[in-house]
Amino acid sequence: MEYLGAHLAFKSRWHKTDEELCRHSMSFVLHKAIRTDFFESYLYLLERYPLGEFRKIELKIQGPGKAGTYFALDCGAGIGRVSKHVLLPVFSNIELVDMMEPFLEEAQNYLEEESDRVETLYCYCLQDFTPAIRKYDVIWMQWVSGYLTDKDLLEFLLRCKNGLKANGVIILKDNVARQGCILDPTDSSVIRDIHILRNIIEKSGMNILAEERQPGFPELCVPIWMIAMQ
Ligand SMILES: C[S@@+](CC[C@H](N)C(=O)[O-])C[C@H]1O[C@@H](n2cnc3c(N)ncnc32)[C@H](O)[C@@H]1O
Repeated sequence: MEYLGAHLAFKSRWHKTDEELCRHSMSFVLHKAIRTDFFESYLYLLERYPLGEFRKIELKIQGPGKAGTYFALDCGAGIGRVSKHVLLPVFSNIELVDMMEPFLEEAQNYLEEESDRVETLYCYCLQDFTPAIRKYDVIWMQWVSGYLTDKDLLEFLLRCKNGLKANGVIILKDNVARQGCILDPTDSSVIRDIHILRNIIEKSGMNILAEERQPGFPELCVPIWMIAMQ
């Protein structure tokens, strides 16, 4: 009966599957099909994954004297999940930056007709990317800061700070360790604790406007935080 688990997991996305095929779930046919379909299933799971309490923090960073809603930059954008579900519903124009060209190519399909409002896709490492001066109301960094060293993160934040319009805001959303740093040797990423993140932000000369820990996650999961800074 284990094949049913795989069948159900893929069923809603992978219309070609059927019980007969899944019964032979170790067969070459299924193996190959799952491999080619994996990317789409991954997108589907990401879409369903909660993007968090944006609205609460949004209330604090928008309005009179607060960040505008004209232009946003999505850093480490991947295929544009944050762009699609968080930024495009709020901002008139957006830009994406990611070091992986295939992700940016996929973003153009993934964002569908909304991709008209994407001004530029930048294929750059954040270490080498300098946002245009005073261009953005919001610069969003979600699940990417852990791929930068402390030094690169600090220097990138400094360049982002120059990329903000008056009242512009940088949002950093990421996993946050309970204490110290957790290194992931498989992809060389790091999960920092909140004190380390605050320290890097303080060194950039910015102030933290708001911080939210995403509620509703089991204690076993690494906490997710969103920090708004200026
Ligand atoms: C975990 S994904 C997050 C994608 C997206 N922000 C989201 O939340 O759905 C990390 C993304 O950061 C990109 N990335 C990792 N290191 C990077 C770097 N140094 N410069 C630019 N992009 C980077 C990866 O290519 C990937 O698309």
